[in-house]
Amino acid sequence: MSSVVSEPAILHQVAIGLGERSYPILIGSGLLGAPACWRDLPAAPAAMIVSNSTVAPLYLQRLAGALQGRFRKVHHVVLPDGEAHKDWATLNAVFDALLAHACDRKTVLFALGGGVVGDMTGFAAACYMRGVPFVQVPTTLLAQVDSSVGGKTAINHPLGKNMIGAFHQPVRVVCDLDTLATLPARELSAGLAEVIKYGPIADMGFLDWIEEHLAALLARETGALAEAVRRSCEIKAAVVGQDERESGLRAILNFGHTFGHAIEAGLGYGEWLHGEAVGCGMVMAMQLSRGLGLVDDALVQRVTRLVRAAGLPVQGPRLGADRYLELMRVDKKAEGGDIRFVVIESPGRAGVRPAPEPLVREVLERCTA
Ligand code: NAD
Ligand code: GLY
Repeated sequence: MSSVVSEPAILHQVAIGLGERSYPILIGSGLLGAPACWRDLPAAPAAMIVSNSTVAPLYLQRLAGALQGRFRKVHHVVLPDGEAHKDWATLNAVFDALLAHACDRKTVLFALGGGVVGDMTGFAAACYMRGVPFVQVPTTLLAQVDSSVGGKTAINHPLGKNMIGAFHQPVRVVCDLDTLATLPARELSAGLAEVIKYGPIADMGFLDWIEEHLAALLARETGALAEAVRRSCEIKAAVVGQDERESGLRAILNFGHTFGHAIEAGLGYGEWLHGEAVGCGMVMAMQLSRGLGLVDDALVQRVTRLVRAAGLPVQGPRLGADRYLELMRVDKKAEGGDIRFVVIESPGRAGVRPAPEPLVREVLERCTA
């Protein structure tokens, strides 16, 4: 895959159907600089691109150049990079920039970066003047297959991940696969965790496809990446279309996340990547599903092998079962302090249920080192 600017080509378009909040997800090459991607956005005098100190030097100019013909003013704000900065202080820097430029309530925000930038920009858009439109321009695999779609926005609290946030749908998602050329290998693997997730929860045929195309994905072949992003977005769009605000079904998208969020919070945000924690969390959730008698060992081993082959950890850090349990009680799926886990009910179908504490402790004992 080349990092040079390619001829613009929209390879796939996925629709997310949410009534008047519906929007398209554009997937392709050369999209950042393609005027076609930026037409038909809400009319506004100004745009504000939110990015970070790693992504801005790579892609800000290209996006700003393309938006110049569309908005009279194109402002930007560059945030510090990292999960550790997904907090109030950094969010406030976005509000400072919007107010310093006297941005009005029509201003369109553009989230140019990974999931951290996307979640924070979305939350800023939900709050600024009680809500302004925003566009997701995800530049990590994880953000393209998951976080940019569905309207969950948030910042972290020291006591729990993504605890302060809002539902606020973007008006468009533009996934330029070319940006993945500069992604560090560790981040590519982290993104693959969220791709793999869609197999056991929704589509075993997709799990077969991922296994067959893992080498192509790790080699960043555009066709394979395009297909992985397309199918992931399609599955996510179908789930979010049925349960936008997670009153039920949408929770299945958090497969592996109950354990994963505990790893992230327990080690301190940024120590393990979100995708790494989710990859390992999925292995734990598979073991839990087997312990509950829902799936056989062959499926547990299959998912574990794939997670490992994607370059992700399959053993969690030894935080101690008590600490894991304490952290998991803060999970948003918990009810009255009772932890609820996303489990695989049968291959390709997930559900949410509590699990006996001795079984959870056994899984934590087996899956941490
Ligand atoms: P990230 O945003 O921290 O990006 C990973 C790293 O890659 C960062 O250092 C970033 O600066 C860098 N980067 C981004 N694009 C790059 C590029 N093209 N080239 C080189 N470097 C690049 O992490 P992430 O994995 O994208 O997202 C994780 C975040 O997403 C977590 O905070 C997680 O909670 C959130 N998330 C949200 C949802 C949701 O539904 N809203 C879903 C999943 C994850
Ligand atoms: N990533 C989980 C969700 O969007 O619901």
